Amino acid sequence: MINPKVEDILNAQINKEFYSAYLYLAMSAYFDEIGLKGFSNWTKVQAKEEMDHGMILFDYVIERDGNVDLRQIEAPVKNFNDPLQVFEMIYEHEKSVTESIECVATLSEDECDMATRHFINWYISEQVEEEANVLDVIKKIKMFGTEYPILYHIDKELMGREYKQHNYSE
Ligand code: FEO
Repeated sequence: MINPKVEDILNAQINKEFYSAYLYLAMSAYFDEIGLKGFSNWTKVQAKEEMDHGMILFDYVIERDGNVDLRQIEAPVKNFNDPLQVFEMIYEHEKSVTESIECVATLSEDECDMATRHFINWYISEQVEEEANVLDVIKKIKMFGTEYPILYHIDKELMGREYKQHNYSE
């Protein structure tokens, strides 16, 4: 049986991962509306990865004989200004997710739940990768500019991102 405090924070994290999927889908719709199909693709692929993150936590809570508590998912922000602003928003969002993952790690250690402490390492590594991926796009936009002919080239590159199902691995 999983520790109740750890179970609670894992359920909160499930909610955050599915909220992240919502947020990325809202961004994907925005990019689609302004004709940036590659940006739309990148954020849609990210939304699918966020759902995987949520499902891996979901399965883990069940595996530990815990209760999955699916909570209300907040509506995402819907007003966006431009691609740079959206990616800066993504960076801030991912930094906040990193902090919440670190809180899961800290709590599971404080509660001597070493299985969860070990499990959450995968998410810690995933956050390093996610923050780096977002920063990469921000740097490109800042380096090359926000004019549409330039964005078109970045857009083509982002079209190449492919979804691969994320599975938990040690
Ligand atoms: Fe699941 Fe983007 O963190």
